Amino acid sequence: MWKPDRNSKKTLYEQIADYLEQRISYGEFPPGSLLPPERKLAEQFDVNRSTVISAFAELRSMGIIESRIGSGTRVSTSKWGATPKHTPNWSRFAEGGSFLPNLPFLRRIREALTHNPTLIDFASGELSADLAPTNEIAVLMGKNAYTSYLGYVNPQGATPLREALVDYLNNYRGIRTTESSILITSGSQQSLFLITQCLLSPGDAVAIEDPSYCYSLPMFQSAGLRLFRLPVDKHGVQPEDIRTLYKKHRIKMVFLNPNYQNPTGALLSEERRKRLLDIISELGLPVVEDDPYSLTSYDGIPPLSLKSMDTTGSVLYIGSFSKIAASGLRIGWMVAPRSIVERLADARQQMDFGLSIIPQQVAGQFLQSDYFGPHLERLRIQLQFKRDLLIESLEKELSGLIEYVVPAGGIHFWCKLIPSIPDGILLEESIKKGIVMVPGSVYGSDSGYVRFTFARAKSEEIALGISRFAEALRGLIE
Ligand SMILES: Cc1ncc(COP(=O)(O)O)c(C=O)c1O
Repeated sequence: MWKPDRNSKKTLYEQIADYLEQRISYGEFPPGSLLPPERKLAEQFDVNRSTVISAFAELRSMGIIESRIGSGTRVSTSKWGATPKHTPNWSRFAEGGSFLPNLPFLRRIREALTHNPTLIDFASGELSADLAPTNEIAVLMGKNAYTSYLGYVNPQGATPLREALVDYLNNYRGIRTTESSILITSGSQQSLFLITQCLLSPGDAVAIEDPSYCYSLPMFQSAGLRLFRLPVDKHGVQPEDIRTLYKKHRIKMVFLNPNYQNPTGALLSEERRKRLLDIISELGLPVVEDDPYSLTSYDGIPPLSLKSMDTTGSVLYIGSFSKIAASGLRIGWMVAPRSIVERLADARQQMDFGLSIIPQQVAGQFLQSDYFGPHLERLRIQLQFKRDLLIESLEKELSGLIEYVVPAGGIHFWCKLIPSIPDGILLEESIKKGIVMVPGSVYGSDSGYVRFTFARAKSEEIALGISRFAEALRGLIE
């Protein structure tokens, strides 16, 4: 049983007033309810009755309680709102700020996966546990002591990782660079965030692919950017559309995901890459090349990066560890002119003092280890296997009801549904049947498209997942 502390600097009556106020605010004594008599409280707290009278007087002066002769002391109803202590209006804060909430379908998918982890997941854009190099990374972590110094790291990124990336970019992406032109980020997502927040201003016009991963990121709208569409066909965007948008809207930057694009899987053709680079260098327009998927090309020959073909320094290159190794390490990188790297590293310093040293050490060691090459080989084979399982299941279950272009790399499969079903209804029905996928409108397309990510589900789940989806779809058509 609580009693006031006789050694406290606070007087006994103040302690009692605080204690009673707290119990009232926790709802133990709701507005209008009767408090125990002064005498009883004095006994309970082991104090004189006059001390309780003083505590009541204090609460009365704050409008928290009211006393009437003959009817005891009650928690105030009329003056309850006048109490000087209030809980902040958190819901108003939660709706405030300039950063927009995530898209409703994405929130719904996250919520469904949290509540039911047994859902077959064709929505999360990442590798399944068996595709990730978990054992190799565990061996490296066992061999290397991560204890050198656990202080703040250079916000541009740890030097050994940037050095490892210089070799990686040269060997795998044909990009010649130096560690001073590399910024390490918390996934490529943070590169996009830094670009939209620090290099562009509210009101600026930018061009993004349609459909595009960028539409799934309200961060573009949060930065106040005006978005203009570059339609994507199976060979990527049409370079001439960039010139048209530039003339019409003075676009300031172009965002492209040219290799096995999210969500369509499209690969920008080599001929279009050349024309695109000619056009942007003629206009002096920067291009962001978001390139997380190139090393998943199933034939083992990654497409040329725009950055490696860029002779005018117009390309900001973004890479990531997420789709080739481990999304949870949160390792991404940007290759950019030094002035840009310095500006963004300075922003990192203000935001979070840079990325944790441990994942940077792990990623650097993995990239330089003998494990990396064989891991990529295995990953490509297994991804292609999963893609084929998906196609086989779709053909078996939904032949004639879907259209698609077979991707030659990446982890996503874009499907047009021939029957027209509203996105939200299809998602809810799919969840009921036990699967999640992403409705196409999340990526800016019209209703009637679906993105299936085939890397996240286990191989043995794919056929079952598609049969559940087919059941959901057929149920809605009939
Ligand atoms: C095209 C593209 N860019 C960037 C990202 C962000 O990935 P991360 O931040 O894990 O590197 C994704 C993730 O799905 C993506 O598909």
